[in-house]
Amino acid sequence: MEIPFAESWKIKMVEPIKKSTREQREQWLKEAKYNVFMLRSEQVYIDCITDSGTGAMSDRQWAAMMTGDEAYAGARSFYELKDTITRITGFEYVLPTHQGRAAENVLFSHLVKAGDIVPGNSHFDTTKGHIESRKAFAVDCTVDEAKNTQLEVPFKGNVDLNKLDACLAENADKVPFIIVTITNNTAGGQPVSMENLRGVRKVADKYGKRVIFDSARFAENAYFIKMREPEFKDATIKEICREMFALADAMTMSSKKDGLVNMGGFIATRWEDIYEGAKKFLIPFEGFLTYGGMNGRDMAALAVGLDENTEFDMLETRIKQVEYLAKKLDEYGIPYQRPVGGHALFIDADKVLDQVPKEEFPAQMLTIELYREAGIRGCEIGYLLADRDPITRENRFGGNDFLRLCICRRTYTNNHMDVIAAALKNVYDRRHEIKRGVKIVWEAELMRHFTVQLEPLG
Ligand code: F0G
Repeated sequence: MEIPFAESWKIKMVEPIKKSTREQREQWLKEAKYNVFMLRSEQVYIDCITDSGTGAMSDRQWAAMMTGDEAYAGARSFYELKDTITRITGFEYVLPTHQGRAAENVLFSHLVKAGDIVPGNSHFDTTKGHIESRKAFAVDCTVDEAKNTQLEVPFKGNVDLNKLDACLAENADKVPFIIVTITNNTAGGQPVSMENLRGVRKVADKYGKRVIFDSARFAENAYFIKMREPEFKDATIKEICREMFALADAMTMSSKKDGLVNMGGFIATRWEDIYEGAKKFLIPFEGFLTYGGMNGRDMAALAVGLDENTEFDMLETRIKQVEYLAKKLDEYGIPYQRPVGGHALFIDADKVLDQVPKEEFPAQMLTIELYREAGIRGCEIGYLLADRDPITRENRFGGNDFLRLCICRRTYTNNHMDVIAAALKNVYDRRHEIKRGVKIVWEAELMRHFTVQLEPLG
């Protein structure tokens, strides 16, 4: 008999979670104004709202916490972290921040000014927010294949090099840098190939531009490169990481994802001028150069986490769990962004709730229905998250409308995946009864999905 695949770790500490009744959930939804960000975590049975900062640290990371150096200046933990980052990425200059968006804030304060144009592949919402709040523009150059959720292509996160070239040909003097998000979260946790990263580098060099990687899930991206690009089938994850980052000038990092920690981020670069420029904003916004928003102990845990998560076994365990859930959905015929990405399933809400008009936010309605069904909290990555166009103030309905179900690292078992799949199937089976969605009662100008207040229609 073939020995089945199993996790590359065992469990040492557990945290109880609680079920609830449908009546309770109905009440809690009402109190939360139908925005699942407003629920308390005790009201959630299985939490798939994000894979950010929600993973379980290893025994080695917890042990490292005890060794943290909390010195204000020159902490040993900073130098340990910096050496690890340099070893994995090749970048010599490192600035720690309290999370990924803080890295964006610090770096973009130096690099982005009003009127600038920043091309990239489906900028994440905070990235776009930090560009647009500076009265600059994010231009999405993702490959068109990403829009068709049923198309099976291996690197749906790629940058369309023709779109990128056209954007630069037209606006070269306004482009401070190109940003490539690895993996491409908004398009469905989809990877970007090494071939594509090489192509981006070529276009950037043609116009004398710098390339920044938004690297939140860079290790998962390296795993997909190993599995899907024949050139790298025998390479280690760490070798692939070095090769990816060799094609960039700098990176922003949310360590809460592939750093395997609950809080943290950093900027890293090979260029002294970027470091010197960003440094000026790090100190007032985040903190001194050798802690910048992080505890010494958290930097120590991050150094271990980065090392652990750039090992094949860890990534294989993780991605196989995401694939396990995807296979269940295949059995039930539930449409999602194919092939499944690294950190989450992105359910194609437009296709599931096809009677709910766009203007009533189908993916948000599906998010609400899944919570109603079994206390599972997903997250809308769709028309609500897309915000309004900064100039016309119209809703942006051009992209996909997804219910994202993130899988936390080393947190839930495949039994939990079975619960998620069954709950989704129940909602899917009664999809024809769901004809109306929600309307917005109150919204913020930017990043509205976090705090939006909604009312169900019908
Ligand atoms: N870039 C990407 C690709 C992200 O996915 C995120 C966060 C950030 C930057 C910002 O990092 O949260 O540490 O400030 N994504 C989370 C998510 C929140 O749920 O996808 P942060």
